[in-house]
Amino acid sequence: MDAVSEKYNAVVVARQALTPDLFILKVMPDKAMAEFVSGQYVLLGISSNVVRRSGSEPEFKESKADRMILRAYSIASAGHEPNLLEFYISVVSNGSLTPRLVSLQPGDRLMVGDKIRGFFTLDTVPKEHKTVVLAATGTGLAPYVSMMRRHAVQPYPFRFVILHGAPRSWELGYLDELRLQARYLPRVAYIPSITRTKEDPWWPGETGRITQYFQSHVLRDRLEVELDPAKTSVFLCGNPAMIHEVGTLLEPLGYTAYTTQATQKPGSLHTEEYW
Ligand SMILES: Cc1cc2nc3c(=O)[nH]c(=O)nc-3n(C[C@H](O)[C@H](O)[C@H](O)COP(=O)(O)OP(=O)(O)OC[C@H]3O[C@@H](n4cnc5c(N)ncnc54)[C@H](O)[C@@H]3O)c2cc1C
Ligand SMILES: NC(=O)c1ccc[n+]([C@@H]2O[C@H](COP(=O)([O-])OP(=O)(O)OC[C@H]3O[C@@H](n4cnc5c(N)ncnc54)[C@H](OP(=O)(O)O)[C@@H]3O)[C@@H](O)[C@H]2O)c1
Repeated sequence: MDAVSEKYNAVVVARQALTPDLFILKVMPDKAMAEFVSGQYVLLGISSNVVRRSGSEPEFKESKADRMILRAYSIASAGHEPNLLEFYISVVSNGSLTPRLVSLQPGDRLMVGDKIRGFFTLDTVPKEHKTVVLAATGTGLAPYVSMMRRHAVQPYPFRFVILHGAPRSWELGYLDELRLQARYLPRVAYIPSITRTKEDPWWPGETGRITQYFQSHVLRDRLEVELDPAKTSVFLCGNPAMIHEVGTLLEPLGYTAYTTQATQKPGSLHTEEYW
């Protein structure tokens, strides 16, 4: 054990691979964490001395030896179960942490930051808003998985529309869980959509980037959702290009960014950019 790994304070209890580059990690901290709010994130870290997965692209920024590599991850589990944290992670081939993190197996140790962070939460939704649109690309779905798990035991007073975009159907993590929740939970609609249709021609569901739902009247016509900042909050998580494009589509409708700075008026567009 090196000096860096002596700081590890949690253990992997389960790992589920969806593809070689996409996985769910369940982590148990040695000491119980404080309760958190769905949508928040925490830092995960492992030593730079851990070898990156073979076949990875050269590291974007070479890590020095004997360092803790720390990155932010949204928590997919719900805040009322703070002793078992779940994460939904994709491997960035030229990255520093994920080509190391991907090799962790049950029993392996890692570091979880003490502080649970972030304001990408439903507490920030104005009381008069009845509908919340939760849109994500890739692993940007994680905060919404947490929100739906909390909604299952302690329902929020909102109607939810979850939009999830992924390249292929096998990269639509939590598909079964969310389909089931959309069936039995009150006021939940779930629309998963794939973009690489040529590689997945048998997928019977929606296709195309999730930006399409903000470009047309499809949410109004199908679900009676009005994209009106006086009535509907919109959350966007994952790929920054998607967030900017949807932001550009919503600004003319009057949407403004939610900001944590007290001096500014809270808006109804909530964003979490992953990179
Ligand atoms: C608040 C917050 C929550 C996050 N939650 C999650 C989560 O739940 N699941 C998850 O998988 N990731 C999440 N991320 C992204 C995560 O923090 C890391 O950035 C990501 O895992 C890559 O880390 P890395 O060290 O392997 O790559 P780095 O060495 O940090 O980056 C290498 C290069 O890849 C780019 N890059 C970083 N992330 C991505 C990406 N996802 N896709 C494409 N290019 C990328 C970087 O800009 C850089 O150019 C979150 C980020 C933030 C800010
Ligand atoms: N090879 C694999 O199995 C695999 C699996 C997971 C992740 N990864 C890698 O992990 C990294 C990040 O993964 P990720 O899960 O966050 O993302 P991702 O899985 O690569 O992409 C998620 C979805 O976002 C869509 N998208 C991209 N730009 C968009 C935009 N401007 N507006 C709307 N939608 C947009 C993509 O559509 P398009 O298909 O049209 O781009 C895709 O459907 C990438 O480097 C990726 O290559 C690889």
